[in-house]
Amino acid sequence: MNTTPVALITGAGQGLGRATALRLLEAGAHVVITDLDARLLEETRELSGAPERVAALVQDVTAQDAPAQAVAFALDRFGGLDWLINNAGIGKAKSVAQTSDEEWDRYADINLRSVFRFSREALPHLRPGRGCIVNLASIFGLLGHPGVAPYAATKAALVGLTRQMAVDYGPQGIRVNAVAPGIIETPLTAERIRTDARFKALMIDTTPFHRIGRPEDVANAIHFLCSDQASFISGHTLTVDGGWSVGNYVPTA
Ligand SMILES: NC(=O)c1ccc[n+]([C@@H]2O[C@H](COP(=O)([O-])OP(=O)(O)OC[C@H]3O[C@@H](n4cnc5c(N)ncnc54)[C@H](O)[C@@H]3O)[C@@H](O)[C@H]2O)c1
Repeated sequence: MNTTPVALITGAGQGLGRATALRLLEAGAHVVITDLDARLLEETRELSGAPERVAALVQDVTAQDAPAQAVAFALDRFGGLDWLINNAGIGKAKSVAQTSDEEWDRYADINLRSVFRFSREALPHLRPGRGCIVNLASIFGLLGHPGVAPYAATKAALVGLTRQMAVDYGPQGIRVNAVAPGIIETPLTAERIRTDARFKALMIDTTPFHRIGRPEDVANAIHFLCSDQASFISGHTLTVDGGWSVGNYVPTA
């Protein structure tokens, strides 16, 4: 059996998915990266320094055949699958009153339904004893925040789905966990931090660490959850937010 772990990471063209791909490669894994954008995937591959351990697949996670295509691609290219990182997701949601049916469905399709479908496809192939899934939830899936209803609903559902899969597939030696990042500087958040002073005040100035998160902060947590160091951790949602969500922190200056 090939002993090098094989990871499949959705939405790895930029941001947290890219950082996770680079972190898992650094840890020695083979990595399948998927994204809508071929150019971004190629950039991730070039940044890796180990292009022979990276296989890129352009696809939309919501496409009917996307999960089967991605899993078959991983098996074909690297001979197995150990770690599924359900990362692809969209942000910038609104309140319930401002959200159309079409917008609601789009959040549900990308942020939640694709995670269910990729997990269902991958689970029979994850190698017992080392197989694991990590879902990208959010602190907004754990507590309320203004104006993020469809986003928060999908991320809260991922926390529940994570627990459920941990219970159902633990007996097969598969661990399932989630990370709940705070505000991390990626293309998803960079513009809002730059242009929305209230959001910055709410999210960054009230973080005890007084800084925005770095993609590497999340990638390190995901690597930990995949690694043998986390061999008795399953069903857990790990916040990576510099302490933002555990207090009502008011800056003194
Ligand atoms: N950045 C944050 O502060 C933050 C905080 C909490 C949770 N998250 C979650 O982490 C994940 C990654 O966030 P990010 O900040 O890196 O986002 P990002 O927008 O920077 O990157 C997301 C990537 O996913 C890809 N993608 C989007 N829709 C897709 C689809 N339908 N099919 C395939 N690929 C698709 C995009 O092309 C992009 O490369 C998301 O699930 C997000 O909700 C991010």
